[in-house]
Amino acid sequence: MTLSPRPLLGDAELARTSVVANNTMNRGRGLSGVNSYARELGFDPLARLGGLDRPRWLDLCSGEGLALRAAAAVLPAGAVLTGVDLVGPLLPRPRPTGVELVTASLATWSPPPGRRYDLVTCVHGLHYLGDKLALLARAVTWPAPGGLFVAHLDPDSFRLPDGRSAARPVLRALRDAGYTYHGRRHLLRHEDPADRPAVLPFAHLGADPQAGPNWTGQPGVATYVQPL
Ligand SMILES: C[S@@+](CC[C@H](N)C(=O)[O-])C[C@H]1O[C@@H](n2cnc3c(N)ncnc32)[C@H](O)[C@@H]1O
Repeated sequence: MTLSPRPLLGDAELARTSVVANNTMNRGRGLSGVNSYARELGFDPLARLGGLDRPRWLDLCSGEGLALRAAAAVLPAGAVLTGVDLVGPLLPRPRPTGVELVTASLATWSPPPGRRYDLVTCVHGLHYLGDKLALLARAVTWPAPGGLFVAHLDPDSFRLPDGRSAARPVLRALRDAGYTYHGRRHLLRHEDPADRPAVLPFAHLGADPQAGPNWTGQPGVATYVQPL
């Protein structure tokens, strides 16, 4: 039993809430500049991908896909640039060769079998997911050897059944699974691709989309977990 002040939602119900499905969130970060991936991640994605013959970048919660589109203009012709978002691009724009924008929920989406990426990013996307740990468990298998997974994460968005923060046990489990967490930048990283999904010993109890703002000032989704 949880002491959440509100009923907890499953992923399908969550996707229909105004916190997750709205067109006011910042979906338009570019590759570099003030409102950009380079700024939010603290490194230029092109610096990771440049020099590779056939760079592969997977962007989770890709919004309008502007960073991928900008990268396509400078990366080699064989680049694979995949964006996945619950909501497809809201503004019609030409889609450069190599850019694929998938409209799907990350609650269920996985890359095609056998495809791995040199860079996997999730810029301010995990805040809106219900079962964040299920995605993080699967995502360790998505980078290629030498590849990098990096995502913004608010550890306090994890709650125990009594409503207290589950940040400490969740971060401990993520570290045990090979993740590192940079608190000042709120960035979670994984650099050793794994052959199988990580074991993160928590049961997902449901999500609360009315938990309030996180450190960004934007409303986020609290994820209730039961340590196993
Ligand atoms: C704050 S926006 C960030 C978009 C992009 N990364 C950027 O920085 O411009 C968060 C994105 O997460 C997407 N999102 C929310 N829940 C999702 C889910 N379950 N699966 C895939 N995308 C989701 C939203 O549609 C939205 O585009």
